[in-house]
Amino acid sequence: MRLHVADHPLIRHKVTVLRDKRTPSPTFRLLVDELVTLLAYEATRDVRVVECEVETPLVAATGTKIADPAPIIVPILRAGLGMLDGMQRLIPSAEVGFLGLKRDEETLEAITYANRLPEDLTGRQVFLIDPMLATGGSLVAAIDYVLERGATDVTCVCLLAAPEGIAHVQEKVGERADVSVVVAQVDERLNENGYIVPGLGDAGDRLYGIVDL
Ligand code: PRP
Ligand code: URA
Repeated sequence: MRLHVADHPLIRHKVTVLRDKRTPSPTFRLLVDELVTLLAYEATRDVRVVECEVETPLVAATGTKIADPAPIIVPILRAGLGMLDGMQRLIPSAEVGFLGLKRDEETLEAITYANRLPEDLTGRQVFLIDPMLATGGSLVAAIDYVLERGATDVTCVCLLAAPEGIAHVQEKVGERADVSVVVAQVDERLNENGYIVPGLGDAGDRLYGIVDL
């Protein structure tokens, strides 16, 4: 599994304002949208493309376009819906599917309650979007779901992640598929309720960049 923690001062700034409890809801939504667009730029670095011809006003030229079948963006309901516009802004030709997952707040297990996805995802690049990667249970359930339908190339875009959740996803995915997780920030740890606690952890250093786990 590949972990990509965005390394950009604007992203760090926006995450800080986002998590400020005084930030009003309209600003919060705008920041989510901006952050997703910035993360989508990184997350789509390996989007499949093909060479094509383009008629310019002067001559025909060789260009690049997104390959068929188009990628599919899958927001994990409900919170992932707030990230959809930002992703679609960068890849408007992508298809959209939905996966409804709910974390049981007692057991912290993910429960799947809805799905609107093509039965066959063979050969499709899948972008799973969800703002929080806490225990990782929801993301593992979503990854399993799309792998069972034939996907082999899955990129997860999250805003905040806990180290425990990343380790859980890594352990469960293993060598089964090419899975990347792109996040704006990795936080300190989970608390006793499985919520992400902001902070730097013992190392005192933020993790940035691309790491093969
Ligand atoms: C939140 C979040 C993730 C999940 C993360 O959703 O959007 O899907 O929890 O937790 P995990 O990594 O421990 O599984 P929630 O279950 O609260 O549903 P909601 O988006 O409908 O509020
Ligand atoms: N839901 C949240 O709002 N935060 C978490 O850390 C996990 C689930």
